[in-house]
Parts: sequence; structure tokens; C-alpha cells
Amino acid sequence: MTKTVYVGMSADLVHPGHLNILKKAAELGEVTVGLLTDEAIASYKRLPYMTYEQRLVVVENIKGVARVVPQRTLDYVPNLRELKPDYVVHGDDWKTGVQATVRQRIIDAMKEWGGEVVDVPYTQGISSTQLNRVLREIGTTPEIRQRRLRRLIEAKPIVRLMEVHNGITSLIVEHAQVPSDKGPREFDGMWGSSLTESVSKGKPDIEAVDLTARLSMINDVLEVSTKPIVFDGDTGGQPEVFAFTVRTLERLGISAVVIEDKVGLKKNSLFGTEVDQLQDSIEGFCNKISMGKKAQVTDDFMIVARIESLILGQGMEDALARAKAYIEAGADGILIHSRAKQPDEVLEFCRRYAEFPQKAVLFAVPTTYNSITEDELAAAGVQVTIYANHLIRSAYPAMWETATSILTHGRSLEVDDKIMSIKDTLALIPGTK
Ligand code: SPV
Ligand code: MG
Repeated sequence: MTKTVYVGMSADLVHPGHLNILKKAAELGEVTVGLLTDEAIASYKRLPYMTYEQRLVVVENIKGVARVVPQRTLDYVPNLRELKPDYVVHGDDWKTGVQATVRQRIIDAMKEWGGEVVDVPYTQGISSTQLNRVLREIGTTPEIRQRRLRRLIEAKPIVRLMEVHNGITSLIVEHAQVPSDKGPREFDGMWGSSLTESVSKGKPDIEAVDLTARLSMINDVLEVSTKPIVFDGDTGGQPEVFAFTVRTLERLGISAVVIEDKVGLKKNSLFGTEVDQLQDSIEGFCNKISMGKKAQVTDDFMIVARIESLILGQGMEDALARAKAYIEAGADGILIHSRAKQPDEVLEFCRRYAEFPQKAVLFAVPTTYNSITEDELAAAGVQVTIYANHLIRSAYPAMWETATSILTHGRSLEVDDKIMSIKDTLALIPGTK
């Protein structure tokens, strides 16, 4: 009887190493590829460049592949127990490092039906990691970048955004990475904050920095990064003007715009009721949302309605009523804002929101209630979390300290150990040399 063989793959950037494994697998029997879903891949590394459907077309057409099934977890075992293959074939690079435990689990499971793991010698000189790096240097397209936010929301328990206000901050968000027991951890995308961009220009956060200036900053970000961008659209302005803004942002490959339900001279939300701020009527804001949705050309772009009821002391019932109305008006996302020190009111909103029959993607900005963790937000139903201002808040004190140290000492020697070397500064920007 023909033996059966299982090969687990992401197949995002298929290279000769993969084809070699599949060839060896086909020599052993009939090959089923367990194609990792976006969700399975995002649980331990960056979302793949190609969607599941695109990767499926590629793998189905590789010689020697009899069929393809989705592998929904990084763990092979659920699929293996179902299919009970005679062999699992993998590159022998997984014998060491974090993957060694994955391999052992498979060996143990395969014993249940007498199956075996076969390790194929790793193809030297080419790897997905290398290809990924090159691809990142090549960049992305507006369409791919735009789509990425929706794909991330579908694939991850919570999507993590960090503010950007110029090219260099976007390079940090693009490249910052720490190891974790679930693989490298990174930011998923960028928040084009009105506050941090205004502050970086020495202006108050009152829509004084106009769209042209904001787009010029966004252009710097687009030039040097590939991750998706959520644009802080302030109040969105007049509905008729907002319709144009939507098209402009969409054309650039921005993934989403967030507009807040305020009218007139807006002030930063974190002032709350300490300053005069006027909330829009429900009807007025619904009209703005639907004018934006009508203007939109693609299906991928998202309009997120930000509710200021908790900020402005209007209470939970008002916030919930607005959320319902905004979703009905076509909002793709709801951002519930709060400036409370504790997460209680946001969590209460989330509990009530969970009961809505019709929901949109839920966003939160835990600036003041920052004891809450991403896992806790995700458990409450928050799908996108925004670190809205942290890079500028860390940069400013560092710059101030350097400036005052030079003034104090009449020279710059004393700051040497607090600042980056010229060599490192030059090396910071890819392609400098
Ligand atoms: C921003 O980052 O500009 C925001 C979030 O709109 S907040 O500052 O909290 O209002
Ligand atoms: Mg803002």
C-alpha cells in the first residue's frame, strides 16, 4: 500500500530548500502538505507576505504534492492525529533551537500509530529568513500594506500599534524586536498620531497641523517602512471634506483612519473636561461616517469611529448608544477612548460591547490606564491596542538632558556615554554606505 507523508509548510517564499524537502517526501509516498494558516504563522512570527489563498495556489501546483490541508496551529499534532501519516518530513534545522521541542512532540505523537519523522539535510545558502530580509529592503506596495491590517486583525489575538511622527520613529517600529517564548515579538503597525506629530512640530494638538503637512510626514514613513498605518484623522473635519481625506489616505495605502466624535475646535482628549470640547451629535457623526464609507474605493480601507463619551463625562450608556449607531452607519471599527487611571470603565464597555449582535473591530488606547496588559485587553475583546505617544515622550527628556548637560559643562564630553556614537548613527539608516 502507498505510504502517506505529511509536510508542514508556510510556503510564503518558496525556495529550492522547500522543493528539496517535498522531493524527498514524494520519494517516500503520497504527500499531504499541511499549509499553515495566517493565524498559525502569526502565533510565532511575522504575518506572511502572501495570503493563505495565494500560498495555497503555489503549493497545490508543486510537483509531487497530492493535496493540501490547512494547519491551523503551529502544533502539528491535531492534524497528524487525524491523518495518521506514515512519515513527517522536515528540514533537519529543526533538530536544534526552539523547534526541537516541536519535533519531539511530533515524534511522540507519531508513535501512537507507528509513524516516523524523517529529517532532510538542510539546503545551505538559502533560507526564508534571508529572503524575508531582502524583501523588507525591497519594500511593499500600497495595496499589500493596506490589506495587512485586516489580515493581522484576523490572524492575531490583538494587534499592537506604536506611534510614529517621522521617518526615524517608523524605522524603530519597523525593526524593533525582542525574543519571547512564542518567537520574536514586534509591533504590527503604526499609529499616525496627531498629538505626537503636532508636538514634534512644536504645535498644539488642535488640528493646527493641516492634512498636507500630515501627509508629508506620512510620506516619509511610507518611504522607509512596510508595516500598516492607522491614521489619526482628528475630527475628520466637515463630512464633505472627510470624503476627500478618505480617498487620499486610501490611495497612499493607509489601512485605516480614526475619527473622533467631536466638533469645533478640538483639544487633545487627555485634557478631558478640563478644556471646552464639544461632542458631535449622533446623527452628525453618523453622517460623517457614511459619507466617508461612500467615498471609499476599495474594500480593505477601514473607517474607525472614536467615541469620546467617557472622556467628556457623558457616561457609559451614551458611549454604548453611540457605538451601536456608528456601527449601523458603517464604521469598520470602534475606538473606545478613556483617560481614567484604571481600566475599569473600558473593561465595562467591552463587557457590554461583547453582547452587541453587530460588532466592529474594537480599538483601545491604554495611555492612562497602562497597568493593563495586552493579554488582558485581548481577553476583554480589544482587537487593536495603540501605544499613542510613547516614542516622543521618551525622546524629549533624552534630548533635554543632553542640551542642559552641554550648557552646564560648556562642552559635550559629559554626554558621550548617554548618546549614540556617530558610527552607530550612520549605520542606523539602511543603505547609508
Ligand atoms: C493621538 O495620539 O493624537 C490621539 C490619542 O488622538 S490621544 O492623545 O489620547 O487623544
Ligand atoms: Mg489625536
